Amino acid sequence: MIYRNEAPYVNPLVRPRRLRRGPGLRKMLRETVLAPEDFVYPLFVTPGEGLRRPISALAGQNHLSPDEAARTAAEVYALGVPAVILFGLPATKDPVGSSGADPEGPVQSAIRAIRAAVPEMVVITDVCLCEYTDHGHCGLIREGRVDNDATLPHLAAQALSHARAGADMVAPSDMMDGRVGAIRDLLDREGFQEIAIMAYSVKYASAFYGPFREAAGSAPGFGDRRGYQMDPARRREAQLEIDLDLAEGADIVMVKPAGLCLDILREIRDRLDIPLAAYQVSGEYAMLMAAAQAGLLDGQAAALEALTAIKRAGADIIITYLAPQAARWLRP
Ligand code: PBG
Repeated sequence: MIYRNEAPYVNPLVRPRRLRRGPGLRKMLRETVLAPEDFVYPLFVTPGEGLRRPISALAGQNHLSPDEAARTAAEVYALGVPAVILFGLPATKDPVGSSGADPEGPVQSAIRAIRAAVPEMVVITDVCLCEYTDHGHCGLIREGRVDNDATLPHLAAQALSHARAGADMVAPSDMMDGRVGAIRDLLDREGFQEIAIMAYSVKYASAFYGPFREAAGSAPGFGDRRGYQMDPARRREAQLEIDLDLAEGADIVMVKPAGLCLDILREIRDRLDIPLAAYQVSGEYAMLMAAAQAGLLDGQAAALEALTAIKRAGADIIITYLAPQAARWLRP
């Protein structure tokens, strides 16, 4: 023991404050460094052209037509953000979410537009049915319940349509059992062995998705998502979900809501050497924005601290609505 905690209490040899004395020292000792390359920026894509409509539930974010999505992608790429993740607001909905696999759907069109405008951008797509079903659930309904196995082919078909449109990576967020395997299978059979899967592996049933559901028009028409998303009071199950998704072929695993799952992120990081992503979700963003707007928080400092905590917990990749702003703040 090098510590001596008897009176007068201050250890003459060990004084951690020595290394906090100035910005230079603090900078050189920092082991967690946030960078624009860490970020993935979510975009909400609608049909049409030249459309850029502010989303009231998510201050600072917009509904974008595919051409405007490409323009935004180019802007954020110029700021150093390497990737976007796309969510679609389709023109039509039905019980099985078939518009999600429409080659002319907003997401598929945006993939092509972004590809053409910013060839280097990593284009990731969210794969789920909730934006495309008329009942707003993430799977098919049978006898009032979400039918897991009947949902899988529909998710895989949507993922395939994204791959065909030119996506680099698909990200299933539905939480059906076996969906990563079903998607991997179909992609491989259709010649898309090189398209990666980022699985929303640990996705808790969270109240913090509220603003997103308003933005994406994807709130369930009856009931809730607790029958398929995870119970926030269960910690150990997170490791099972991660292991299953990796066994089914996930290339990257994701945890959300990020800021409320720092313990889970750390546990995965300590156990596995795999690429780990974290989603700072709409409610986390909305809280920061609202508190800053009300003058209760320094918005920039609070946002960067929240993102640093997510990275410190073990995330390699952070999906965040703050990506463009944070990238600007981090510019040297
Ligand atoms: C679709 C999906 C959701 C989010 C990402 N993909 C909503 C949900 O599960 O209800 C949430 C993202 C956010 O809140 O920012 N299933």
